[in-house]
Amino acid sequence: MNLLCFLNRVLCFFLPTLIFVLSIPSVEASKPNPFYFPHVDSSVLPDPSHFFSQNLLSSPLPTNSFFQNFAVNNGNESEYIHPYFIKPSLSSLSLSYPSLFHNSSITYQVFSPVLTISTPDKSPNQAHKVSSFSHLSVTLDFPSTNLQFFLVRGSPYVTCLVKGKTEVLISSVYTIESMSFNSILTKYTIKLSNQQKWLIYASSPIKFSQNDKFSITSGVFSGILRIVFLPDSDSTFESILDQHSTAYPVFGEAGFTNPFTLEYRWDKQGFGDLLMLAHPLHLQLLSSPENDKVVVLKDFKYNSMDGDLVGVVGESWILKSKPVPITWNSIQGIDKKHFSRIISSLDNDTNNLNLTATMSITSSYFFGKAIARAARLALIAGEVDHRVVIPQILKFLKNLIQPWLDSTFSGNGFLYESKWRGLVTKLGSNDSTADFGFGIYNDHHYHLGYFLYAVAVVAKLDPDWGATYKPQAYALMSDFMSQNPNFQYPVLRNFDLWKLHSWASGIFEFPDGRNQESTSEAVNAYYAASLLGLAYGDSEVFELGSTLASFEIMSAQKWWHVAEHSELYAEDFVKENRVVGILWNSKRESRLWFASAELRECRLGIQMLPVIPITEALFSDVGYVKELVEWTSPALKRKGVEEGWLGFYYAMEGIYDWESALGKILDLTGFDDAARGSDCARIGAGCAVKQHLALLTAAVVLSRSCLLLPFCLLVACVSAL
Ligand SMILES: *[C@@H]1O[C@H](CO)[C@@H](O)[C@H](O)[C@H]1NC(C)=O
Ligand SMILES: *[C@@H]1O[C@H](CO)[C@@H](O)[C@H](O)[C@H]1NC(C)=O
Ligand SMILES: *[C@@H]1O[C@H](CO)[C@@H](O)[C@H](O)[C@H]1NC(C)=O
Ligand SMILES: *[C@@H]1O[C@H](CO)[C@@H](O)[C@H](O)[C@H]1NC(C)=O
Ligand SMILES: *[C@@H]1O[C@H](CO)[C@@H](O)[C@H](O)[C@H]1NC(C)=O
Repeated sequence: MNLLCFLNRVLCFFLPTLIFVLSIPSVEASKPNPFYFPHVDSSVLPDPSHFFSQNLLSSPLPTNSFFQNFAVNNGNESEYIHPYFIKPSLSSLSLSYPSLFHNSSITYQVFSPVLTISTPDKSPNQAHKVSSFSHLSVTLDFPSTNLQFFLVRGSPYVTCLVKGKTEVLISSVYTIESMSFNSILTKYTIKLSNQQKWLIYASSPIKFSQNDKFSITSGVFSGILRIVFLPDSDSTFESILDQHSTAYPVFGEAGFTNPFTLEYRWDKQGFGDLLMLAHPLHLQLLSSPENDKVVVLKDFKYNSMDGDLVGVVGESWILKSKPVPITWNSIQGIDKKHFSRIISSLDNDTNNLNLTATMSITSSYFFGKAIARAARLALIAGEVDHRVVIPQILKFLKNLIQPWLDSTFSGNGFLYESKWRGLVTKLGSNDSTADFGFGIYNDHHYHLGYFLYAVAVVAKLDPDWGATYKPQAYALMSDFMSQNPNFQYPVLRNFDLWKLHSWASGIFEFPDGRNQESTSEAVNAYYAASLLGLAYGDSEVFELGSTLASFEIMSAQKWWHVAEHSELYAEDFVKENRVVGILWNSKRESRLWFASAELRECRLGIQMLPVIPITEALFSDVGYVKELVEWTSPALKRKGVEEGWLGFYYAMEGIYDWESALGKILDLTGFDDAARGSDCARIGAGCAVKQHLALLTAAVVLSRSCLLLPFCLLVACVSAL
C-alpha cells in the first residue's frame, strides 16, 4: 500500500515533469511577421483612445476586465468593484454599497448612485481616462475636475486624490440627515435617509458645509480623500477603519511566483498598515503558512454576493491553490477488459472522420471542437494500445489545422488586430456576432483552448510538425495566456487574477459586468495550454497552464457548483439550483445563453464538456456530483431531451455509479445532434460527443479504476497506516 501511495504521487505529479524534461526542444522558426497572422483593421471594435490615456495606447489593452464598462460606449455603465458599485459619468464618480435581490431563478446586486463625488466647477464635456490598470486596480482620471480615483479591488475605502486646490462636491440621491466631524476636520460622518452611514477621511483638514438637503461642498483642498461605508455600528468596526484610513493603495500587482502560487502586492502610500478585503476563496487560500505577516480580521466583514468579504491587514498576500495533475491520458488508466470494445469504437470513429464535412465548418468554435474531438481519439488510441489508427487521425488533423495556422483556410481564419491587440477571426473582424463574438474578444479561451488541444496532440505525436508550427501555436496560446506584459497580447486576457477565474464576455457594455457560462471549457483552455507546454518541453507554459487550471477549478467549485448545504447564495436560489448557468460579476442566473433554466441537462452538460482527464479534478467532490445528477434527473422526463446532452449526464453519473451509467451510455442510439432547432441544438452540434462512444466509454470506465485522484491518494495512504 505504501508503494501504491508512492506510485500515485509519482505518476500524477512527477511524470508530466519527466516527460517535458525528456522531450526534444524544438527550434523556433524565424518569421518576419511577429504576430504570425495577417493584420486586419477591425470594423467592429471601439476606439480605445477615448478612455485610455495616451501612454497606454502603445501596449495591449484589457478586453475582459473588471472595469471593461468604463472603456465602452460612453464609459458610464457601473462596475462592481468589491465591495462597491462604481459608476463614472462625464465629470463625476458615483458609488453605492449594493443591496441584494434574490429569488429562485436569479440573484443580483442592485446599484443606485448613493454618493456622487465631483466638483462645483467643471466643464462637463470631458470623459474620464484610465491612466493605469492591472488585474487588481484601475486609476481613473477626471481631467475636467482635478480628481483622480484609485480603484483598488477589495479596498473598503474608495480613495480619491484631489489636485490643485479644488472644491469637492459630494451629493446623494438621499437626504443627508446629519453630518458630524472630528475636531481637526479630517474625518466626517454622514448619515443618509436610507439609514446608511458613510465616513470621509481626509489627509489634511478639510471644511465641508452642507449646501442643501442632498449635498455638501468643501473649501479648497489638495490631498487624499477616502470614502467608506460603515456596515456595522459597532465601535470596534469604526475604530479599525480609523486606524487604517491613512494607508492607501494606489496600484496592485499580481504574479505567479511558483507553480500553484499567486502573489499580490500593493503599492501603498501614506502611513500605517494596509487594510484590504478578501473574498471566500482568497480566505481559504490565505491560510497557508507563507502568510505569517498577514492578519485576518475575521469579524470585520462587508457583504457581497460572492460571499462575505473579510478584512485582511498586510501589503502582500500569497495564494496557493490545490495542485492538479496535467496528464495526456486518464489518471489511473483503463481496465484492460474494456479495451476490445473501445478499440472497435475507435476503428469505427476513425473510419467516420470526414474531412469534407469538417472543412465545411467555418465557425471557429465548432471547428475547434471538431479537431479537439479527433485529437482525443488519437490519445485514446495510444492509451488502449491501438496505435494503428493514429496515422490516419494525424493526417486528418494536419489537413484541418494547417489551413488555420497558414492563413489559407477560405472559410475563416485568424488575423491580428492592433487597436486592442490580439487575434480576431476573419468572420469576426467585421461582424461582432460572428464566431460568438470572437471579433470583440468574447470566448477567446474557449475557442483557442480547443485549437490548442488539437495542436498539442499533433505536436506530441509528430515533433517535426510541432517545430514547424510552433510560432503559430504559441501565438494562439499567448493571445489568452500571456504571463508578462509584451507588445503583442495583454496579460491573461480572460483569467481574472483577483476573482481567480476567467471571464468570457469581451468588449461589450453589460450592466452586470463580465460573465462566464462554461467553467469546464475554461478549465479545458488552461489544461490544453499546459499540454502544449508538455508537447514543446516548455516548463513555463506547462506550469502556468496547470496553475490557471487549478485556480479555475477551485473557483468553479466555489461559485458555480451549488451544493445543497451551500450558504454562499440565498436559500431560495440554493434550493432550486445545483449549478449556476451564467455567472456575472454581480449577478447569478439559472438560464443559459442557449437554453432556459428548465433544461437542466444542458446546464450540467455545459459545465462538464469536454470530457477529458482533468474533468476528474473539476468534479472531485463525489457527494456534490451525486446531488447534481439527482437534481438534473426530473428534467429528463420531458419530451425532446437530446441524446447529446444525456451523454454528459450519464458520464457524470459514472463518477459514482459507473456500471449503471455505462449501460445507459451503451443504450444511447447516438451522440449526434440530431434534433436541430431545439434549444440545445446550437451548442449541441459541437459538444455532443458525435459518434465517439470510445471517448465517453473511456471517460466512464476511468471512473471505475479510480476517478478521483485525491480520493485515491487518500484511500491508498490511509490503507498504508
Ligand atoms: C450614459 O450616457 C449616455 C449619454 O449621456 C446616456 O444616454 C446613458 O443613459 C448613460 N448610461 C448610463 C448607464 O448612465
Ligand atoms: C425572479 O426575478 C426576476 C427579476 O425580477 C424575474 O424576472 C423572475 O420572473 C423571477 N423568478 C421567479 C421564479 O420568481
Ligand atoms: C459505427 O458508425 C456508424 C456510423 O457510420 C454508426 O451508425 C454505428 O452505430 C457505429 N458503430 C459503433 C459500434 O459505434
Ligand atoms: C462526408 O461529408 C460530405 C459532406 O457532408 C458528404 O457529402 C459525404 O458523403 C461524406 N462522406 C462519407 C464517406 O460519409
Ligand atoms: C465582411 O467582410 C467580408 C469579406 O471581406 C464580406 O463578404 C462580408 O459581407 C462582410 N460582412 C459584413 C457584416 O460587413
